Amino acid sequence: MTLKKKKMSWRSFVPSCGKNETLKGKKVVDKQTSFQRISLSDLSTSTLSEDLSISLAGSNLHVFTLAELKLITQNFSSSNFLGEGGFGPVHKGFIDDKLRPGLKAQPVAVKLLDLDGLQGHREWLTEVIFLGQLRHPHLVKLIGYCCEDEHRLLVYEYMPRGSLENQLFRRYSVSLPWKMRMKIALGAAKGLAFLHEAEKPVIYRDFKASNILLDSDYTAKLSDFGLAKDGPEGDDTHVSTRVMGTHGYAAPEYIMTGHLTAASDVYSFGVLLLELLTGRKSVDKNRPHREQNLADWARPLLKDPRKLSRTMDPRLEGQYSELGAHKAAALAYQCLSHRPKLRPTMSTVVKTLEPLEDLDDIPIGPFVYTVPTESVSHKEGEAEKESKKKNGHHHQNHPLHNSHRHWMKSPKSRNVYSESTAPHQNLRHGLNSPLHHI
Ligand SMILES: Nc1ncnc2c1ncn2[C@@H]1O[C@H](COP(=O)(O)OP(=O)(O)OP(=O)(O)O)[C@@H](O)[C@H]1O
Ligand SMILES: [Mg+2]
Repeated sequence: MTLKKKKMSWRSFVPSCGKNETLKGKKVVDKQTSFQRISLSDLSTSTLSEDLSISLAGSNLHVFTLAELKLITQNFSSSNFLGEGGFGPVHKGFIDDKLRPGLKAQPVAVKLLDLDGLQGHREWLTEVIFLGQLRHPHLVKLIGYCCEDEHRLLVYEYMPRGSLENQLFRRYSVSLPWKMRMKIALGAAKGLAFLHEAEKPVIYRDFKASNILLDSDYTAKLSDFGLAKDGPEGDDTHVSTRVMGTHGYAAPEYIMTGHLTAASDVYSFGVLLLELLTGRKSVDKNRPHREQNLADWARPLLKDPRKLSRTMDPRLEGQYSELGAHKAAALAYQCLSHRPKLRPTMSTVVKTLEPLEDLDDIPIGPFVYTVPTESVSHKEGEAEKESKKKNGHHHQNHPLHNSHRHWMKSPKSRNVYSESTAPHQNLRHGLNSPLHHI
């Protein structure tokens, strides 16, 4: 059943900032499926303060107080620190029915908006609106939020293995085995396919390794919906937006024109697939110039089996399915097509990836751990520090700390903001966030 859309305020969606209760409005329907998903466009800034009657039905989001979230994270103590991105720091906590009757006992990740940061209420609200309504095994579950005075927090299910970025690129860790990589690619693809094929399609827009979180069994879940957009409606072929996203993952036509389609996400997926195959980051400033942008460098090599074997992640030690690698490389090649119409849909990507996890032509060899060279590690560390400075994780005086910003993240939490109207100028490089603590 499609309900007539109503303009509503975020307060109606977030009806009781600061009060301890679950989102269950009095006039709400029980099943989310019988309710049209609320979009950010249903909320206009002019209606922010209006008190409208509809709230999110059946979302079961918990509205936490700041005091409760301080309690469960031991006042956001460093021992509970999980990492930090563009939104702000993330801490581990634990909730149970002692905190609030009826709460399922479970570990959670609490993301706190950095009030001096580049993101703000809008990104927080986008996250609550999308993740509060979308539920899928390959999307991270939003358990609740806090909205008290200027404080904005998000409470998620805790993902024990942290982000794919940390698992894939962390320096002193065991390399992710081939099958695990294929499982992760498939899970992430299913998450994207779900978004693209929803009754009201969603373009995720920030698909990248740091936004893929991993459960204990390496089930991949998409997180961070702060940049998500509703897909085109009716006869529209695209959504026109300011260029926002992450450098190295964003589709070239989107960067050039600001025209956003589901195919832009497919391009980003192609970049991620390349990262899984090669073990290289989407952008790596420590490499020779022509190798810095992974998609530009690797795409021409994907079709040639000999060249492909040379581009495969050395940390795999050759222990991968050759057939699987060829199929995955051919898929990445298509996803990275410069003509968006030639890219496969995410459901085709899912179908192509499904059989790859089970291919068993994997040579068995001794596991050898390769320690990265000092110079690279040192350079990486310096680059991280430098780009963190530029990126403004502590960016009090950033000129774009206002509501009308254009931004492009560079490969991780590198939120790039620009007042420029030329889309391609909204790019900036960034850094890696601190390592994930398990
Ligand atoms: N639900 C979660 N469970 C466990 N760890 C999490 C969870 N959410 C985030 N993290 C960790 O917190 C860190 C910061 O995550 P966050 O999503 O804020 O930033 P990011 O993805 O690193 O950067 P960006 O701002 O570009 O999204 C990451 O290292 C991630 O591993
Ligand atoms: Mg993230």
